[in-house]
Amino acid sequence: MKRLALLTSGGDAPGMNAAIRAVVRTAIYHGLEVFGIPQGYAGLIQGNFKEMTRGSVADIIHRGGTILLTARSEEFMQKEGRERAYRNLREKDIGGLVVIGGDGSFRGAQALYEEYGLPVVGVPGTIDNDIGCTEYTIGFDTAMNTVLLAINNIRDTATSHERTFVIETMGRHAGILTLMTGLAGGAETILIPEVPFDLQKICQKLKKGYDRGKLHSIILVAEGICIDEQCGLGSQDPKESMAFLIGQEIKKRTGFETRIIILGHLQRGGSPSAMDRILASRFGAKAVDLLLEEKGGLMVGYRNAEITTSPIHLALNEEREIDKSLISLAHILSL
Ligand code: F6P
Repeated sequence: MKRLALLTSGGDAPGMNAAIRAVVRTAIYHGLEVFGIPQGYAGLIQGNFKEMTRGSVADIIHRGGTILLTARSEEFMQKEGRERAYRNLREKDIGGLVVIGGDGSFRGAQALYEEYGLPVVGVPGTIDNDIGCTEYTIGFDTAMNTVLLAINNIRDTATSHERTFVIETMGRHAGILTLMTGLAGGAETILIPEVPFDLQKICQKLKKGYDRGKLHSIILVAEGICIDEQCGLGSQDPKESMAFLIGQEIKKRTGFETRIIILGHLQRGGSPSAMDRILASRFGAKAVDLLLEEKGGLMVGYRNAEITTSPIHLALNEEREIDKSLISLAHILSL
């Protein structure tokens, strides 16, 4: 292999730039030519290749987002789209591809590998930390710290005004971002998709807390929680934000002054933490090493303090377990 290409795809995550830098510089160190593909799979279908040099990744290690731009491509989901993408790679004589992104991006990478035998290596990058075969994804640590900063600030106002705050966090169908930041931020209640909840019990806890003189309450709600009969809210319009539905109901049932905050995309940006930069640098370098060994269909990961490699298809099928005991711990510590 003489030429390698790389792209970022799906939602941006802090540390993606550090990973791009690592891929480009490791590849050049080993004598390869490197091409960046702007706008993820959409750019690949258009045949948009930009040669990268050591200089083109200078001064980006500390920047959030991705200098390669990112997108979610509907066209790449279709066989014709992937056919065009593969043809472009062949015409450019690209021998290996690094895909930095989340599970949707990995599905695309796996399809390219299975259908055309192209050596593809996935680098997990998403604030959701919802990919199998790795304990951490690039961007998760920074997003945790961003959410924590928001909780700290909101707590000041919550205490001063003796209010209940319902804060909605991202994570798509996964609750790990919410669980970890809820524990670290001292939230009274943490609602995540993996654990059923009962709103009546939450209201009782709030009332008991106020009776004991607790001045404020922070309720952290993952955007992916399911509102159904079981949680005591009946079926609700899924178009409404989860925090809004929960906050409104708490206000109605307890009479407490309640405010609702949806953190949204501010969780995705920002300068990456030290941990994300280190992880991204190690992941990026390892991805190039694998391609140099002519391996493909793999992703890099982090387990038991080591950089690991696993087949992408395993990661896509692995159920990410959440440590539910942390919910009880957060509950006990916030009583
Ligand atoms: O996957 C990252 C993520 O931020 C999720 O947490 C969230 O559900 C989704 O992307 C939002 O996507 P978009 O930026 O397309 O609105």
